[in-house]
Amino acid sequence: MKINISLKSYNSFGVDVISKELYEVYSEDEVLKTLNSLKDRKVFILGGGSNILFTNNVQTPIINVKIKGIKIISENNNHVSVSIGAGEIWDDFVKWAISKNLGGVENLISIPGYVGGAPIQNIGAYGVEIKNVFLSCSGYFIETLEKKEFKINDCQFSYRSSIFKKSLKNKFIITEVVLQLSKNNHKINKSYKSLNDVIKSKNVKDPTIKDIAEIVSNIRKDKLPDPSIIGNSGSFFKNPIVSQDTLTKLKERFSDIVFYKENGIKYKLSAAWLIENCGFKNIKEKNVSVYKNQALVITNLGNATGREIYSFSQKIKSKVLEKFDILLEEEVNII
Ligand code: EPU
Repeated sequence: MKINISLKSYNSFGVDVISKELYEVYSEDEVLKTLNSLKDRKVFILGGGSNILFTNNVQTPIINVKIKGIKIISENNNHVSVSIGAGEIWDDFVKWAISKNLGGVENLISIPGYVGGAPIQNIGAYGVEIKNVFLSCSGYFIETLEKKEFKINDCQFSYRSSIFKKSLKNKFIITEVVLQLSKNNHKINKSYKSLNDVIKSKNVKDPTIKDIAEIVSNIRKDKLPDPSIIGNSGSFFKNPIVSQDTLTKLKERFSDIVFYKENGIKYKLSAAWLIENCGFKNIKEKNVSVYKNQALVITNLGNATGREIYSFSQKIKSKVLEKFDILLEEEVNII
């Protein structure tokens, strides 16, 4: 256990707050022992810290899941099932899959964070979400130490959400994730516009898993700051989902508003467009800024505190509400 340790290297915003008690656990056994020793106390589960904004020192004991291991547990002619320890770095796993020519997660390359956090917010990028390759995840209920496996239909996956962000928030600790990847006949997903545009402009015929990974990785490099250099946690807000009626009214006032069809009756608005059109792109305040290439990303320019970042984010939120009557919802967990 680490006492009074700085969490600066444990969160991708690089915010310097203190954790009173931090437990790094490397196996299921250690998870159980730690939970037992903390019985009846509230605990906070931390993965890669890539979707979190600490605004205060953390008094609650933190369990940082570091369980490693990637193994194929079953296979047939077309698919493999892969078990991944929750503490594996997501991108290491994606690169492992690509090196073995296993398809399904190539669009999800370069997303920061650990594997255990991926199902919690149903990570997604460039037309793919983890739910598209998800089989199950396992772990323990924090209060009862009961072990449980959640199959895909138990997880209530939706856009950037799951049961682990809703009724099971802070109640369940994920130790293992099982995904299904394709060995043969993998259907490349090039539906996302900016991805398809590059494929077309480069005249890539029948892109392979490696081609997609390379193209997505390059698009991300252009748009998103590397958190090891500039503190950030990717998109700060979710893209808001609105009704046809709301969209029609917005389009009357803002004819170039960016939106996508979400399902039959709902539409997703580009939060980046809303923020940019409130004049925030590349705007700095103290040590905080809206990223120059992606208005949905808030960055720590140096020694910003979590409160400075939070207060700037709330200014953005108020301005978007005032101008568009749309209430943005944080994608980042504010602690
Ligand atoms: N746009 C602007 N201004 C900007 C950036 C984008 O107007 O500063 C508009 C453009 O029209 C652009 C469109 O928004 O074509 C879409 O932009 P982008 O492809 O960057 O996608 P996004 O909707 O802003 C979402 C995810 C990202 C994910 C990308 C690609 C959310 C909250 N964010 O961003 O996820 O990488 O799509 O799939 O859904 C993350 O969750 O941390 C994250 C980075």
